[in-house]
Amino acid sequence: MIIGLLNQKGGVGKTTLAISLADALAISNKDERVLLIDPDPQQSALSWSQAKDVSPNFSVIGLSTKTIHRDLPEISKNYQHVIIDSPPRVTDIARSVVLASELILIPCTPCVFSVWAFEETVSLIQEASVFKPDIKYAILINRKSSNTLISKSLVKTVKSMNIKMLKSMISDRVIFSTASLQGKSIFEIQGNNQSKKKASEEVFELMEEIQEIYNK
Ligand SMILES: Nc1ncnc2c1ncn2[C@@H]1O[C@H](COP(=O)(O)OP(=O)(O)OP(=O)(O)O)[C@@H](O)[C@H]1O
Ligand SMILES: [Mg+2]
Repeated sequence: MIIGLLNQKGGVGKTTLAISLADALAISNKDERVLLIDPDPQQSALSWSQAKDVSPNFSVIGLSTKTIHRDLPEISKNYQHVIIDSPPRVTDIARSVVLASELILIPCTPCVFSVWAFEETVSLIQEASVFKPDIKYAILINRKSSNTLISKSLVKTVKSMNIKMLKSMISDRVIFSTASLQGKSIFEIQGNNQSKKKASEEVFELMEEIQEIYNK
């Protein structure tokens, strides 16, 4: 699988979800190799991996170029799954991430502000789909809070644009930032508290839904 996480808006959880998904894939497919590509000039995923005291369950490489789609076949030939993070606002890298990916997840937070950049991101994917008609893409709600409804305008926009929204959603949980501050994924956090259990379940559910979309 080649999965890109894309949203021109910053801070919606692209890197957090890229790390979580890469680890979930590596944990549940022990015989398969997972690669996380970090095209962000700020190297957030790469710094996360370098700050770790144990090696991650997957490989991480920095590749901040607009030729990811050209370089990927060679770089990824020994991997079964590739997750591509992306930087906010850098359009030529975003375009390359779209051309490199088979499925794009567009993380959105459930508020009205995230609608604006996501429309821009969808246009970018639709432009690139001229060269890649089979590309699949879907909105992924991140940081859902139990007492907020997903903003009506977000749902309305998604419907009017006829875009798929994943059934799986990721809740807002402190464990995601605690993990990244410790150079860990949520699965590597010590202890077995409720928050870890629930966050892990949601990420595995997300992974399963992605695998279903792939196998369709
Ligand atoms: N589900 C979540 N629950 C709680 N916090 C979250 C969640 N997802 C992301 N965060 C936090 O939100 C912040 C932004 O996340 P992240 O860096 O993954 O976003 P990003 O889209 O990669 O940002 P950028 O566009 O700047 O690269 C981080 O502090 C992260 O820990
Ligand atoms: Mg990021």
